[in-house]
Amino acid sequence: MLKMTKEHDNQEEINEKLIDKKVDRRNFLKRSGQTFGALMAAGLFKFNFSTKGAKASEGDLSDKLIILHTNDMHGRIEINEEDGIMGMPYVSSIVQDFRENYENVLLLDAGDTVHGRPISDRLYGSSTIETMNAIGYDIMTAGNHDFNFGYDRLLELEEMMNAELVSSNVEKDGELLFKPYTIREVAGRQIGILGIATPATRYTTHPDNIEGIDFTSMREATEHYVEEMRSEYDLDLLVALGHVGYGANNPDDEDFTVTDELVTNVDGIDIFVDGHSHTRIPEGDWHNDTLVVQAYEYLKKVGVVEIDFSNDQPEFQAHLISAEEAIANYEPDPELEEILSDARDDARDAMLG
Ligand SMILES: [Fe+2]
Repeated sequence: MLKMTKEHDNQEEINEKLIDKKVDRRNFLKRSGQTFGALMAAGLFKFNFSTKGAKASEGDLSDKLIILHTNDMHGRIEINEEDGIMGMPYVSSIVQDFRENYENVLLLDAGDTVHGRPISDRLYGSSTIETMNAIGYDIMTAGNHDFNFGYDRLLELEEMMNAELVSSNVEKDGELLFKPYTIREVAGRQIGILGIATPATRYTTHPDNIEGIDFTSMREATEHYVEEMRSEYDLDLLVALGHVGYGANNPDDEDFTVTDELVTNVDGIDIFVDGHSHTRIPEGDWHNDTLVVQAYEYLKKVGVVEIDFSNDQPEFQAHLISAEEAIANYEPDPELEEILSDARDDARDAMLG
């Protein structure tokens, strides 16, 4: 427990530092005459996409890709305004808004998704998958707690989900348990998405859940598959979808690797969509040529990255939408409310046996 508390304190400190950095970066952007960060934030805060869309030419929109991302929802699929949790009904409304206003949208989840609340746990994760299917998640990666019902159950959930599950460093008997990466053609571009799991799963879920499963070196897997993806596909963008953790080394982890260290040492990742450390990164954080983003925890935020392909090098802008903003600006999606209502009944029935 002591370790947990210490890590948590470290994480709070990192969160604060990142928020300070955000202020510095804004000042820098103002000084350099670039206001895109401020403009993006203003547009998103006002959810003024119709105006923004009308101002942008058709060509501009077809050159843009929006990546929406969540992480560490830990079964918090229900709305809990008191705790600042938007739940899947508001996630759905945000996603629909972006899909209506942009031609190209990818929806990703960085893991620790299916376990953590009775509404999901009593149904061994299926209710969370149902909400993800209704919203239309494209790709997810597995977090350590996604193994909490046993790896065989995770394979069943993978069957149930419409999203692709990618993970490049989880093996059974020397074979990958999941597809390591996927290639999507979006916005007329080739987008590669590589999954990475934390080897901390070895000791953060019950050993019975992962019997016979190896979590291999993140660094080796990342180097290997980034190289493979870059050489075999003519990629316009390589996104890592990692349940790795930002800014807090864990000395118990033999790889001793965290996202910031990984992207500093491995070239070729354009955007790293992260999870595990429950970190709030308001506008993303650059390490060499990689933009790292993470959307905090429990569906308190949804992350947005706008990628503009209209110049030689793609340009990125990142932002987080908070539950407060979502609740103030959207109606919760009634279809998702209905799925949750049924799931509550099913979870109750499951408990009563
Ligand atoms: Fe995690």
